[in-house]
Order: sequence, then structure tokens, then C-alpha cells
Amino acid sequence: MAPDATAAAGTTPVLTATGVTMRFGGLTAVRSVDLTVHDRQIVGLIGPNGAGKTTFFNCLTGLYTPTEGTVIYRDTLLPAKPHLVTQAGIARTFQNIRLFPSMTVLENVLVGRHTRTHEGLLSALLRSPGFHRAERASHQRARELLEFTGLADKADHLARNLPYGEQRRLEIARALASDPGLLLLDEPTAGMNPQETRAAEHLVLAIRDQGIAVLVIEHDMRFIFNLCDHVAVLVQGRKLVEGTPRTVQGDERVIAAYLGTPFEGAPGQDEAAEVEAAEAARAAEAATTAAALAAHAQAEAATRAEAVTRAEAVTRAEADPPTATDDTPPHPHHEENDPR
Ligand SMILES: Nc1ncnc2c1ncn2[C@@H]1O[C@H](COP(=O)(O)OP(=O)(O)O)[C@@H](O)[C@H]1O
Ligand SMILES: [Mg+2]
Repeated sequence: MAPDATAAAGTTPVLTATGVTMRFGGLTAVRSVDLTVHDRQIVGLIGPNGAGKTTFFNCLTGLYTPTEGTVIYRDTLLPAKPHLVTQAGIARTFQNIRLFPSMTVLENVLVGRHTRTHEGLLSALLRSPGFHRAERASHQRARELLEFTGLADKADHLARNLPYGEQRRLEIARALASDPGLLLLDEPTAGMNPQETRAAEHLVLAIRDQGIAVLVIEHDMRFIFNLCDHVAVLVQGRKLVEGTPRTVQGDERVIAAYLGTPFEGAPGQDEAAEVEAAEAARAAEAATTAAALAAHAQAEAATRAEAVTRAEAVTRAEADPPTATDDTPPHPHHEENDPR
């Protein structure tokens, strides 16, 4: 853990999610999840693929209307409307980068700025003094954010021409342009090389130092355990464990939940892989033995069944001599009474 991470965290809740449940038809992707993020906290959300992490983010940001549960930002109960959630103070990035590829870097940040500019359409059309003032302020803020995210010298480049790591940074710059109090990051280092990942760590710490709380989904466990004050683990839609990185790292259930799907950089991943391989070998062996036993049992059962059938046939024949309805030709009745 970074030495200053816990020291900086506050005690005022910024985000309070209570009993958030999201069902898609028969599938419950998120089950009654409670989560609180405090001011100046960096909270990690981890869990195997398909655990419901992104779905939970979508519930927090109004992209989905949760089937059950509430989301409160500071003192405001959030409606399930993304633009209102952004206005309230929550910004996010996406697991799959969503930029305007044919716009410049600066323009992408200006788009993110628009929820914070209160000049209306009429003002824009009339090019009123208010509009020009707001536009100047927006440009200034956008340039500050490019400086902050290390993209200042790329302001006029088209977004699509940026290397991957810089596109991710641009997404963060654009999210910050709405002046959020809480930033949600969905796998911000996915596809990054180690240097880019370390730079992203520094950026997240700098964002927190600006007084913005961060909730981050990430598979890179080094990133999570370096940065986070608090970590929650989702497995099959449920919150399995939460606590300090140390608590979560040592929890048997977390280790077990990940054994099936080891993640990159996971603590003890090599050992887990070894255990898994050994278990797979044992399982294969057991399966072979079980198959042999089953075949044997089946053969035996077949023999027994045949014997039973035969015995039954004999019994039936003794107890119930064949009649005209049987397949065997009837003894002519007169034979028995034939006085011959
Ligand atoms: N819009 C949707 N419609 C139906 N099922 C969905 C939808 N979004 C996600 N899911 C399902 O919900 C589960 C959780 O997915 P997701 O939240 O993307 O997991 P994670 O981000 O933890 O990998 C998965 O089984 C996924 O297929
Ligand atoms: Mg996801």
C-alpha cells in the first residue's frame, strides 16, 4: 500500500449504495450489494470476469435502473439518468475506451466539460458575452486537465492517433472535465504495459490528492493493493468480502474464488496454478477410475438384470402355466382330461 493512502482517506460518505440488485431476465448479475466510498478514499472493486463489476458501475451511474436498491451521492438520491448522475458529481470511464476518435484531444475534453457549462443553446447561438466567457473558461480548464494528465503536447492530435495508454489517460481527462467528486474507473490499466500502468497509478493518486474519491475496477492486483484504502470483492454478483487490502489478500474465500480463474499479477498466482494443475490431474485420474467403476457396475447390473429376468421367467412359468394368451402354444385342454 502507498504510505499516504490510508492517511488521506476521510470519513464522510461520498457514495452510499444500498441493496443494489440488477437482474437481466433470469440472470441476477448483481445481488443486494452495499458499498460506501468515503471522501478522499480510493476503493478497489475486484472479482473474476462476469462477477457483475461493470453492471454494478452501470447501476451507480444511471445507465441501468437497478431492479432493487438505492444509490446516494453525498445527500442526493440519484435518479437512473446518466446526465443527472454526472451533474450530481459522479464521472466514469469505460472498460472499452469511448472517445470521439475523429475529434482532437482538446475537443474530447471539451465534450466532457459540457455538463458544467450553464450557458444555454440560445446564448451559444447569439454568441453572447456570457457564452464567450464560458467558452474561454472551458478551454482553460480543458488545457489544465491535459497538463494534469500529461497530454498537453497532444492537444491538437486526433484522439484515434494516440497510443493506447494515452487514450486511456484522455478518457480520464474527459471524465475529470465534469468536475466530479467521485470518479469511477473500469479497468483503467487494461492493455497497458508496465510503465503505463505505473504512470496510471501515479495519476490516480494525484486525482485523489485533488480531493476526488475514486472507485476502481481492476484486475491488476499490484495496482489494487498499491493504491486502495479499501477493497471489495464481488463473486457471482455478491459482495464476498471487503476490508483493507491486507484483509482481502489473506482471505481464504477470495483465494478460493480466484482459483478457477487466476488473474495477472495475483498474489500467489504461480502457486495457485500449481495447485490447480495438481487438482486437475487428480480430477482426471478420479474421472478415469470413476468411469472404469461405472462401466464395471453397469456390466454387473446388466448381468444381474439378465439373471433376474431369467429367474422371473422361470417363476412365472411355474406359478402361472402358460395360457392361451401366452406366446407358447396352448396345451390342448382335452389332453389333461384325456383318459388315455
Ligand atoms: N445488458 C445485459 N444483459 C444481459 N446480461 C448482462 C448484461 N450486462 C451484463 N450481463 C451479464 O451479467 C453478468 C455480469 O457481467 P459484468 O458486469 O460485465 O461482469 P464483470 O464486469 O465483473 O466482468 C455476466 O453474466 C454478463 O453476461
Ligand atoms: Mg467488466
